[in-house]
Amino acid sequence: MKIQVITLFPAMINETLNSSMMFKASKNLIVEFKVIDLRQYGLGPRKQVDDTPYGGGDGMLMRPEPIFAAVIDAKKYAPTAKVVIMTPAGKTLIQSRVRDMASSATDLIIICAHYEGYDERVLSIVDEQISIGGYVLTGGELPALVLIDSIVRLLPGVLGGEKSAEIESFSEQGIIEYPQYTKPREFNGMKVPEVLLNGHHAAILKWQNENYKKV
Ligand code: ADE
Repeated sequence: MKIQVITLFPAMINETLNSSMMFKASKNLIVEFKVIDLRQYGLGPRKQVDDTPYGGGDGMLMRPEPIFAAVIDAKKYAPTAKVVIMTPAGKTLIQSRVRDMASSATDLIIICAHYEGYDERVLSIVDEQISIGGYVLTGGELPALVLIDSIVRLLPGVLGGEKSAEIESFSEQGIIEYPQYTKPREFNGMKVPEVLLNGHHAAILKWQNENYKKV
């Protein structure tokens, strides 16, 4: 699966994709990340990427030309990729959509919007508008990272153990987890439940089933 991110702030994306599980997934060739600096597609000697809105109003909008050029280049690398833009006006991301995107493993080109928004004509090359929730951030970088992390952790081989698949199997009821403990047995007067210490597998499973919580 190829995931390309078009951004004015490549460092924000690179830092996260070069860490932890995302780094491991790309090192193991489960996913291929490419971060595209939108500034290099900027106009004129100052590499301008934004401009004032027609009809007036505060703030700047992202111009369409740099975004179009960046997406055309990204499609050369992944011709069948879906183009996604992160925007609070998009459809809110939920786990079932994440699961679909992970199981289809369709290549993605993710556009991170900035400033006060983007020229509406950008949407003519976008397949899907995605929001990560009912609140507004300063840019699409954090939302893009949320989308990427949620998909990549479901790709076969990323989490290693079977636990994730096990939890996902409860997906019809939502995402659920049971309380877990590690050492020490007692901490600040709080004890690990006795049933988890005695090694009776059936009893442990029963306890876990009885103590599932919806996350
Ligand atoms: N850009 C700014 N806020 C956002 C949000 N909530 N979801 C996706 N993209 C955004």
